Amino acid sequence: MNILNLGAGGFIGSHLTQRLLAEGHSVTAVDLWTDKVSEFLDHPHLTFIQQDIRNPEWSIDPFVERADLVIDLIAYANPGLYIRMPLEVFRLNFLENLKIAEACVRRHKRLVQFSTCEVYGRTAASLKHANLADPEDPIHATFTEDESEFILGPVDRHRWIYACSKQLLERVLHAHGLDSGFNYTIIRPFNFIGPKIDFLQSEQEGIPRVFSFFMDALFNGTPMQLVDGGAQRRCYTYIDDAIECTYRIVENPGGVCDRQIFNVGSPYNEVSIRQLAETMREIYAADFRVPGIPLPEIVTVSGETFYGKGYDDSDRRIPNITKVRRLLGWEPEWQFRDMLKATMSYYVHEYPRSRPAAKSS
Ligand code: NAD
Ligand code: UGA
Repeated sequence: MNILNLGAGGFIGSHLTQRLLAEGHSVTAVDLWTDKVSEFLDHPHLTFIQQDIRNPEWSIDPFVERADLVIDLIAYANPGLYIRMPLEVFRLNFLENLKIAEACVRRHKRLVQFSTCEVYGRTAASLKHANLADPEDPIHATFTEDESEFILGPVDRHRWIYACSKQLLERVLHAHGLDSGFNYTIIRPFNFIGPKIDFLQSEQEGIPRVFSFFMDALFNGTPMQLVDGGAQRRCYTYIDDAIECTYRIVENPGGVCDRQIFNVGSPYNEVSIRQLAETMREIYAADFRVPGIPLPEIVTVSGETFYGKGYDDSDRRIPNITKVRRLLGWEPEWQFRDMLKATMSYYVHEYPRSRPAAKSS
């Protein structure tokens, strides 16, 4: 197939581009940056277009026209950005993505749209007025694509503008499906992790995701900060498992993914952020520690201090993967410790400059 891969230079996009090329597809990749795809930039079946899709002088239409399939990964995807620039998050994640979707509708092209597990928002168990028999019961935190309610916080917690923009885009795709039979598949990722997830703050300005904050702290012996105590939980999914699932969605055997929404995540790897910090520190101490550099302490910081006013958080989110298992036979294989070790090993080897040299005393 000729595949138009938008956001191909990002964390998921770079791994997906590699897989698509390995499977023999021709890929037209669009992104602002090339660093994560540098090793296969001269692949004969890859055309890389370094472009800001917001550029009014540039049009996506001819690229959509030539594609058999469009994959859209473009978004501001780091929570720090939802707090710092909520309007830009809405503009890119909804308005710009809508233009891509409409180009696909006009040209009758199938679209694989990356959305987010954040559309589900908080759990019912987190609501103060909720009167649940057992709020700790995982049933209250397990989200199902076509059944679960969406619970987002108030408008002044502007973290939710990300979830809301993604949710509205999903609803518009669904409406186009009803209106004209438009063919889309929506992916809701649950905390993918792996090599190339993000930059390190010691190397580049900005606000990466939690893994990179903790990795930087381990490299430099500075505190690992738990936002609001670290009791919030996430289900971690290794990028190789995620790409395998995404590739099955791309292949779409017998059209089983037509106009479907899929949770893509591992229900088996649920941990609190405190457990994430502690496990990373244990692995680092055992396998990667530079002699003389102290292991970081683990401290608590408020969400408002860490991210700024308007921060709020998902308390817990576990994917129900019955649908993806049934339709595509996909099952995540990677265990939490192994995926952390593999990701940390990549950062240790790729970012030697970020690691202070060993101290002799
Ligand atoms: P990422 O930030 O690594 O990738 C996004 C890519 O989009 C980046 O390479 C960025 O340069 C590109 N981009 C942004 N603005 C652009 C513009 N104006 N023009 C061209 N390119 C632009 O994020 P990711 O983790 O790879 O996520 C990919 C998608 O999956 C996003 O839509 C995100 O919301 C969604 N998602 C990811 C996760 C996860 O666990 N990684 C979880 C939920 C949802
Ligand atoms: C995650 C992904 O990281 C986003 O890229 C993705 O877009 C989003 O899910 C999504 O599903 O769409 P989140 O898990 O909240 O968002 O973001 P992380 O930065 O990975 O933070 C995880 C948790 O760790 C949050 O509760 C955050 O407050 C906390 N955290 C973050 C810390 O305790 N310490 C830090 O140094 C950084």
